[in-house]
Amino acid sequence: MGERTPVYEARNVSKSYGSVVALENASLSLHAGEVIGLVGDNGAGKSTLVKILSGALAPDDGTILMDGSEHSWKSPRDALESGVETLYQDAGLCPDLTVSGNVFLGREIRRPGVLGKLGFLDKQAMEREAAASLDRAGIGFAGVRRTVDQFSGGQRQAVAIGRAVAWARKVVILDEPTNHLGARQAGEVLNVMRRAKEQGLGVIFISHTLPHVLEATDRVVVLRLGRVVADRPTSSFTPDSLLKVITGLAEEAPL
Ligand SMILES: Nc1ncnc2c1ncn2[C@@H]1O[C@H](COP(=O)(O)OP(=O)(O)OP(=O)(O)O)[C@@H](O)[C@H]1O
Ligand SMILES: [Mg+2]
Repeated sequence: MGERTPVYEARNVSKSYGSVVALENASLSLHAGEVIGLVGDNGAGKSTLVKILSGALAPDDGTILMDGSEHSWKSPRDALESGVETLYQDAGLCPDLTVSGNVFLGREIRRPGVLGKLGFLDKQAMEREAAASLDRAGIGFAGVRRTVDQFSGGQRQAVAIGRAVAWARKVVILDEPTNHLGARQAGEVLNVMRRAKEQGLGVIFISHTLPHVLEATDRVVVLRLGRVVADRPTSSFTPDSLLKVITGLAEEAPL
């Protein structure tokens, strides 16, 4: 990794919900063109860290750095505008909007019109762009004009992931994106992450499916009870050794 400045970094981040300590002094760094796996048992603090990185939750303590400079996000919009896209765990789409409507949700392309300064929604431009961006993400998708409720769960998930990857300029965070997916569709999600990496994005992949993590990541960060207990190249883990670190059956040397 050398001396390269990470594109995104959490330094000594802590967060409690009342008396529950969800994160304690957790640090994580991500380089451009790198995919890291963030793993840990249920309740380990993964989604809490995701929400802090996406600007949805303020840490009690610690700092967030982008390209080496400190940031404190006041809202998810701050992080979005700085190039960080997040697919939250169990994030939904709007079922009665079309695929392209979902890809452009909150970012509609408008054409100046006679009806006032807001103008018309430029549907054709949005459809063209939505198809192109899903295509760039490696998601071949016939039917960007169809409403999302006509697609299967896996296809909807593909749209949500495509949306995140399409808009991300620096970092994309995917919280359990392969949940509820069959083997083929999960494989497609892993391919989308590879493409995002090839495009120079930093990717954070959260999953309980360890074979996916071992297959698709460069480095694995393990959280246990809110603490980072391992941060190593993926190639240094076997499925068995990773499971042992996650459950605490194997102790790591202190980081
Ligand atoms: N809004 C909340 N209010 C109170 N406690 C919370 C809240 N969100 C999370 N917690 C607690 O914080 C801890 C970390 O939760 P978090 O959702 O970050 O875990 P996780 O690693 O994402 O788990 P999972 O794998 O089940 O998604 C847990 O003990 C959880 O019960
Ligand atoms: Mg979670």
